Amino acid sequence: MPSKRSGLSAARQPLLSLPDTRALSANAILSLFSHADELAELSQQHGSYLDPAEKSLHHPKIIACLFFEASTRTFLSFQTAALRLGHQAITLDIGTSSSVVKGETEEDTVANVAAMKPDAIVIRYNRSQALERLLPTLPMPVISAGTGVSAHPTQALLDAYTIYHERGSVRGERVLIVGDVAHSRVARSNFDVLLKLGAEVAVCGPERFLPEVSEVPGLKVFKNLDEAIEWSTVFMGLRVQLERHEESSLKNRSLDDYKHKYHSEFGLNPTRLRKLHRNAIILHPGPINHGVEFSGEVMGDSRVRVLEQVQNGVLIRAALLSKIFSGRWEA
Ligand code: CP
Repeated sequence: MPSKRSGLSAARQPLLSLPDTRALSANAILSLFSHADELAELSQQHGSYLDPAEKSLHHPKIIACLFFEASTRTFLSFQTAALRLGHQAITLDIGTSSSVVKGETEEDTVANVAAMKPDAIVIRYNRSQALERLLPTLPMPVISAGTGVSAHPTQALLDAYTIYHERGSVRGERVLIVGDVAHSRVARSNFDVLLKLGAEVAVCGPERFLPEVSEVPGLKVFKNLDEAIEWSTVFMGLRVQLERHEESSLKNRSLDDYKHKYHSEFGLNPTRLRKLHRNAIILHPGPINHGVEFSGEVMGDSRVRVLEQVQNGVLIRAALLSKIFSGRWEA
């Protein structure tokens, strides 16, 4: 285990933003995990992530949370993290009370919020070229809270942190990601983080849900879920995201039409739970489509760590904000 400051070098430029995980080294990720551990300890001792010894030096920051797509976990966990660090999150209800409902564009909305000079912006959006051009020009750190189908960096970091916490290391784990991988930003960021940390990673799902294997060197593909389950030490279910499908045959189908077929071939159920290693863990980034990815029995299984993922999400986001604001965030 590297020390909490390992991987830092004075020669490197601080990495102020987190558009995705590609720029992160394994050491930077492990250093983030160590800091999350420290914050967990502070929280246990003092009920917040603020070290009492540093309280007098604390300068509260303003973090603008702009979510152009729906969210429960990521939205609230960034806000919880900010508050526990002694910072303030400001949020905009984009779909109901922002000027987006009057026709303001996403890039104008972001530019106007940035003009108020928050200390950081956390943003969830579906890729748009104008916004993609704008974000790198902003003078404050910008953290992706989920970008189209391409990246969900903090989700992958919290997923890997959950495995690391359970096992002491991610290295050597055999992580099976099941479901709508091709449309999943969670899967893309997880490939990057997990492979860097030394895990083996495999996917399984309907053929049209799988990415091009050449997209991810080192990725294994299983056609048969039962074989894949026997191989795995970590099972990660993904939501079927019909709203992101281009193919009209699927896009126009409701999940109700599709779920029985999907569940019988690729859903986790009591029979498959019996095949899963007894020390395996079961993850899902949420939201879960019950009866599709997971049968009703799954959430009662002792190997499920779904709410631990959510709990760890607050810590990882707090560790990230803390490192960014203290100038200790480097790739
Ligand atoms: N995992 C995840 O991104 O969940 P939310 O969409 O609720 O933020």
